[in-house]
Amino acid sequence: MLRIFIPIESAPGEARVAASPETVKKLIALGCQVFLEIGAGISAGFLDDDYRNSGAQFVPIGDVDAWQKTDVLLCVQAPPRECLERMKPKALVVGLLAPYQNESLINSLKSGQLSALAMELLPRISRAQSADALSSQANIAGYKSVLLAASALDRYFPMLMTAAGTVQPAKIVVLGAGVAGLQAVATAKRLGAVVFVSDIRPAVKEQVESLGARFINPPQLDEKPSESGGYAQESTEAFLTAQRQELSDHLSEADVAICTAQVPGKKAPRLISEGMLDRMRTGSVVVDLAVEQGGNCAETKKGETIIRKGVKLIGASDLPCSVPNHASSLYARNLLALLEPFLKEEELMLNLEDELIAGCLISYQGEICCQDLLYSGGTN
Ligand code: NAI
Repeated sequence: MLRIFIPIESAPGEARVAASPETVKKLIALGCQVFLEIGAGISAGFLDDDYRNSGAQFVPIGDVDAWQKTDVLLCVQAPPRECLERMKPKALVVGLLAPYQNESLINSLKSGQLSALAMELLPRISRAQSADALSSQANIAGYKSVLLAASALDRYFPMLMTAAGTVQPAKIVVLGAGVAGLQAVATAKRLGAVVFVSDIRPAVKEQVESLGARFINPPQLDEKPSESGGYAQESTEAFLTAQRQELSDHLSEADVAICTAQVPGKKAPRLISEGMLDRMRTGSVVVDLAVEQGGNCAETKKGETIIRKGVKLIGASDLPCSVPNHASSLYARNLLALLEPFLKEEELMLNLEDELIAGCLISYQGEICCQDLLYSGGTN
């Protein structure tokens, strides 16, 4: 019988868990045995008894035997090296493994002859949508970024007619309309703000307008950033300069900027310069979700709120961890959706030729499948 193990997440600040009582029940119905470390779901609001009622079994925290006997380890972030080293050869690790620049993880997979699926490398194709953990978590980040902005702002979001007179709605500028950006637009609209959006992919205009926001057309230069597989490619400095000029007037009238613009594998485009910040009004708020990739906005710092000449700069990281119950429920469903087609007769039979598996398989029984990882260097 396939033995699945869900440990307590060990990364600082990580409140999510890789299985919910709902997904545990389904895994057991598919013929698996599911073990959790005691208290694995508490920080996400799932009690041990909730899992027990779904058929899960528990092991004490740090139980070496549990790691050794595991066939499939479900996690949010990659476990520490000393835990991976306890696992038996050919076991499978599935999670948001952040494999690049992570020499320690790659070495553990190789030396332990482990297989691993990195959820962030899943191809962004229609068939993958139910398993798309980047999307489920980015959605939460987009939603929460607007709530952070609303609570930091010195004004209302909606237009209000009060006995003391009319209050004008807040003006929000959203930079980047991928998954997080579109959710930020939808959330800000629900709160009654007037929303403007900048993106460089033409397909986005219609999506933005269907949410009731206004699209800021990208600069009409001969040299435009290209697109590949639905992702924007890096813009030239000339393009970014023209884009900043266009955005500057919008930002000078804005109450809030939500920054979500990213280019996979590259530094985030710098869309708000210090000069543009100087033009923003005292009391306005910038929430930078791209801060870990270098930031869309000058001077934002990961995990910090800085007040610069009266403008609040929020370097928002780990927002999905601030909504851990739903973040975990959705992530757990993503994991189930990826593995379910391969769970047959109480075994996991991964089809290595399947497009989804091939896209996110970084190691197969210790053989590193993705050559980029061998040469990405760095240590973690
Ligand atoms: P992302 O996080 O990589 O980027 C966010 C947004 O920033 C993108 O819309 C991008 O065009 C924009 N951006 C880049 N440079 C910019 C600049 N200079 N100025 C303004 N905006 C800029 O994107 P995410 O959310 O990961 O989505 C990427 C694509 O994948 C989208 O096309 C999305 O529709 C697609 N997708 C497909 C899925 C599927 O079919 N399974 C699931 C989720 C997303």
